[in-house]
Amino acid sequence: MLKVNHINVAYGNLQVVWDVSLSISEGEVVAILGPNGAGKTTTLKSIIGLLPPKSGSVEFKGEDITGRPIHEMTTLGVAFVPEERNLFTAMTVHENLLMGAYTIRDKQKIRRNLEYVYSLFPRLEERRPQYAGTMSGGERQMLAIARGLMANPRLVLLDEPSMGLSPENVIVVFETIEKLRSENVTVIIVEQNVDTTLRFSDRAYVMEQGRIAMHDTSENLLKDDHVCKMYLGV
Ligand SMILES: Nc1ncnc2c1ncn2[C@@H]1O[C@H](COP(=O)(O)OP(=O)(O)OP(=O)(O)O)[C@@H](O)[C@H]1O
Ligand SMILES: [Mg+2]
Repeated sequence: MLKVNHINVAYGNLQVVWDVSLSISEGEVVAILGPNGAGKTTTLKSIIGLLPPKSGSVEFKGEDITGRPIHEMTTLGVAFVPEERNLFTAMTVHENLLMGAYTIRDKQKIRRNLEYVYSLFPRLEERRPQYAGTMSGGERQMLAIARGLMANPRLVLLDEPSMGLSPENVIVVFETIEKLRSENVTVIIVEQNVDTTLRFSDRAYVMEQGRIAMHDTSENLLKDDHVCKMYLGV
């Protein structure tokens, strides 16, 4: 479904991602792990078209989408939930969700999607009229994920969705990922919560200093000495 071929990505003259290749099949949940500054967010931004690679290419369903602007990615069925969340703080929960469906013309479909995300996150339904800017950190995270799902994506890129969440809300996030998997939606997840992420994903890539240091099934990585020592503290 997604193929990233040898991308090199830089901020101005400062290259931070080196020769990264990823290959993700439809319906897979794939993690990108690694320490702070390893280039995980930069890789996602490059896939989604926020920061086109200097060289290399990105293919989605066999089509070259390298450097496509982000709004075209939404139409193609790719959603990105960034680390910074980027909610419209002066809009209500409900309005934020509607913004997520801006590429959809069919009102019935928008209504169905609203029902769907409200069923996933009942807390958001309770808070429909509340301004996003006054929501708690965890609620904002849920809203950002829900907004990403409003456009019926087939591929969802989540950058640290569990960051700052209470243990119960971390579970909600991972249950949502399970739900997406059951609907054959493909998920790429960047996480610091390595143990839980490896338990919920099929495969993972480990990035270190801008490069892919390892990739394997999540099951194997959970047993790997380097991963245990570096990321699991065991
Ligand atoms: N806008 C920018 N301009 C210049 N350098 C940047 C910019 N954004 C990120 N970097 C640098 O690129 C490198 C990779 O950053 P990136 O955000 O991709 O890391 P990350 O793996 O997502 O880290 P974290 O786990 O802390 O989110 C870092 O050294 C960072 O300082
Ligand atoms: Mg990051």
